[in-house]
Amino acid sequence: MTAQPTNLSGLDLRAEIDRLRIERKAVILAHYYQRPEIQDLADFVGDSLELSRKAAATDAEVIAFCGVKFMAETAKILSPEKIVVLPDLDAGCSLEDSCPPDKFAAFRAQHPDHIALTYINCSTEVKALSDVIVTSSSAETILAKIPPEQKIIFGPDRHLGGYLNRKFGRDMLLWPGVCIVHEAFSETELLKLKAQHPDAPIAAHPECPAHIVDHADYVGSTSGILNYAKAMEGDTLIVATEPHIIHQMELAMPGKTFIGAPGADGNCNCNICPYMALNTLEKLYLALRDLSPRIEIEEGLRLEAKKSLDAMLAMASATVGQGDLGRP
Ligand code: 13P
Ligand code: SF4
Repeated sequence: MTAQPTNLSGLDLRAEIDRLRIERKAVILAHYYQRPEIQDLADFVGDSLELSRKAAATDAEVIAFCGVKFMAETAKILSPEKIVVLPDLDAGCSLEDSCPPDKFAAFRAQHPDHIALTYINCSTEVKALSDVIVTSSSAETILAKIPPEQKIIFGPDRHLGGYLNRKFGRDMLLWPGVCIVHEAFSETELLKLKAQHPDAPIAAHPECPAHIVDHADYVGSTSGILNYAKAMEGDTLIVATEPHIIHQMELAMPGKTFIGAPGADGNCNCNICPYMALNTLEKLYLALRDLSPRIEIEEGLRLEAKKSLDAMLAMASATVGQGDLGRP
């Protein structure tokens, strides 16, 4: 169960978290969609692939994972001897929810000649039913290593799968899941914004639907978008992904302007991931203090899930954090 905030008033949470991270020999890993105050005190901020690699390589005794549950579970699968805590166990993901393991197993059974290439945004059970996991930054590298004649099921994100099918001329069977956050961008509002900033390129995450991705100058993972922002020549970028990543952009490039792509109401607040937002400084402090809530995975299931993650880490070895799916 998620620890309930007791009366924490009067506590200097940042100082307490710093004290506990040393006392617990903990590393704090954070995804780019976390609140700025969590990103600022994390030991490492990254995309899903980079966070998986950090979790696999760390010599810390405790991993405080500030992200969503499938990310913390990935850390536990790769580093079972560590204590892995997630500040709020309810930090799920709509893609994971869209893909119940029993239904996925039945779908696989209907297509015995297909391998399952699966987006990391899924449960441990679905990882255990998959052959190779991909993240948005490793999908292209990995797909390029799979012979074109090999039949593939891709789940659970139909937009990422559709994007890969279009870009690489593949015909992967797509599981019908979506990210509720990236689905919420409005093409009409995006085009209005673009008309106001005609020189600003658009960078989009591949979880966006085709009607958004089709307008993008760059499509890639969170790290890929950040690197694109650093490399671009202009001073303004329209960002079609969860807007908390803009915090890292503003830190790294204070002279540039970053505008979150809008939702249907004309602003980008509806694109804040409600699951990522569940983690707070208070809950992170409690998680480090109480070493709870912990991620625990049954060993047989963990070993099955680890096979598809190991396959990803081996096949993605050429992907050095550029998160690059390139131009559409
Ligand atoms: P990245 O791997 O690009 O960080 O994406 C994770 C995610 O959940 C995007 O919604
Ligand atoms: Fe899941 Fe979408 Fe949130 Fe990413 S942004 S964690 S895909 S709900």
